[in-house]
Amino acid sequence: MEQMARFGVSLQPQLLERFDREIRKRKYGNRSEAIRDLIRDFLVEHEWKENRKVIGTITLLFDHHVRDLTRVLTEQQHQHHSKVLSTLHVHLDERHCLEVLVIKGSSKEVREMADRLIGTRGVLHGKLTATSMGRGFKPGRADAP
Ligand code: NI
Repeated sequence: MEQMARFGVSLQPQLLERFDREIRKRKYGNRSEAIRDLIRDFLVEHEWKENRKVIGTITLLFDHHVRDLTRVLTEQQHQHHSKVLSTLHVHLDERHCLEVLVIKGSSKEVREMADRLIGTRGVLHGKLTATSMGRGFKPGRADAP
């Protein structure tokens, strides 16, 4: 079984009350699981700041009736084909398309690519979700205190 380390945390009671309220709302089973998630988030943020190799998803909402847009977006992806691991395209209605791209690269490369795609004329909404290759992350036990 995976070994778990324990540590104590001191904080103001009001802060702990607010934290407990929030983790109940978010359906965490216990404080430890919530704190593990906060630590992982903190580490992912650090990986992105350090320009490490990361994974991200770019979500794009666009109107494919906008002249040349589909071609421009595809062209940009082909220019960086080695970083694009996968794409998902959904035809939402007769005009709108949703595209989700999984991108692997240095955080700088992934950010630049996201900025370029999201900033393309005709893209109605776009979002980069930053995550990690997961090295050094281990799943927490649901029953851990
Ligand atoms: Ni479409």
